[in-house]
Amino acid sequence: MRMTQEARRALRITLDYTNMTDKALGERGISREELLARKKLAAKAHEALRRDRGKEENFLGWTELPYQSGESVKEILKSAREIRKKFDSFVVLGIGGSALGPMTAFQALCHLHHNELPKAKRKAPRFYVEDNVDPVRMKDLLDVLDLKKTCFNVISKSGATSETLAQLLLITALLKEAGEKPKEHFIFTTDPEKSDLLELSKKLGGVKCFPIPRGVGGRFSELSAVGLLPAAVLGIDIKALLLGAADMDKHCKSGDLFKNPALMGAVLQTIAMGKGKNISVLMPYSDNLRCFADWYAQLWAESLGKNMTLDKRPCHLGQTPVKAVGATDQHSQLQLYTEGPFDKVVTFLSVGNYRKSVPIPDLRTGLLNVDFLGGHSLEELIAAENRATAHALKEAGRLNATVRIPEINAFTLGELFYFFELMTAYAGYLLNVNAYDQPGVEAGKKATFALLGKKGYGQLLKELDGEKPDPGCVI
Ligand code: PA5
Repeated sequence: MRMTQEARRALRITLDYTNMTDKALGERGISREELLARKKLAAKAHEALRRDRGKEENFLGWTELPYQSGESVKEILKSAREIRKKFDSFVVLGIGGSALGPMTAFQALCHLHHNELPKAKRKAPRFYVEDNVDPVRMKDLLDVLDLKKTCFNVISKSGATSETLAQLLLITALLKEAGEKPKEHFIFTTDPEKSDLLELSKKLGGVKCFPIPRGVGGRFSELSAVGLLPAAVLGIDIKALLLGAADMDKHCKSGDLFKNPALMGAVLQTIAMGKGKNISVLMPYSDNLRCFADWYAQLWAESLGKNMTLDKRPCHLGQTPVKAVGATDQHSQLQLYTEGPFDKVVTFLSVGNYRKSVPIPDLRTGLLNVDFLGGHSLEELIAAENRATAHALKEAGRLNATVRIPEINAFTLGELFYFFELMTAYAGYLLNVNAYDQPGVEAGKKATFALLGKKGYGQLLKELDGEKPDPGCVI
């Protein structure tokens, strides 16, 4: 895929941090001196990332994904073509980083009612991502699937995630019951060397497996086969997605925070954290990007929420991500953002050109609250509301920044994914925490193992059985 420099520049996303500064907010804003004071540290963070790029042992394999070989992309496209021909539905079974990326790309780039469209308009299988083990949800999904015409993409980096494996067992049994060969309905996406899914693939007669490269962790895996295969099945231009990510990578090549938007974003957020802004709100003004806020929430929360620095000093760091959607949440959360505690940074995702246009008819009703809308369009209204909200927050002395997206397409989505991944990685360096592990989720996993009788967890089960609700605390 070729795009002129000019075309790429026209599609470049930008970070506008005007409303983070003291120029806009007075003493509540961040001063140039504060930014300058972080310049060296930021350059060091940038240098550390540059030095470690691609290193598997440092979990920086994701930095290579925009440049992955044409062969791996070809292989994905080939499988996608076959799936599109053969199946009516494509279901992702996965959770966390193995589900949020595919959901995000689907919502961002496909028709918002894709599954309800007739096949001729959809031009791709129906698409579902089952990222939970709620029995009602699973049963309800099974009610609408024709198993014989469904392809299941089981995605798990570790190949050891209970939720995903339980779903896999269930679907395997159902396929067998229906007289189908599981091998023909499954595609696995997993670690190419160390994963129970590899073993299961053999046991099921050789299920096709796509690799998640070593050094690519779950929440940084969207630009690997994790996201690319589902996207290709949906007809999304995955080469453009990768090109957008590569373009953002190049755009962020400077160690000077004033020239590198992802580095500036990380510096601003970490300065804000230091001032007690413990909440990071991501507020897209686009229904296509609702899910992007969920993807970001996992990335930001799991990467930075840590209790130990890299040099093993105890800490309690991180920022709680909150999802809001404009204009919907202006009528729900905005009151808190403008008048509640000064504990948030709001980042807007603002769209330049919406890909559809809806004029508001001018019906001349003679009513003041009605008539001013006529002759405008829904895209004008939502853009105006976005500007107005940023203004209101600024007037209330609240830190807010805007990521501007010229339009939502595969290229700009690639830029967006990579921008936020880079920003998160830089923030990890700036906070001096390991952005790639998640030890805090292990305790819960182990307790689940114990409760379901997994071998080796007997002692923990005893402890759990000893935990009874205090009758005095149950009312
Ligand atoms: O970011 C991560 O590593 C996690 O959130 C994982 O994506 C999640 O736990 C699912 O893991 P796996 O892909 O190994 O099934």
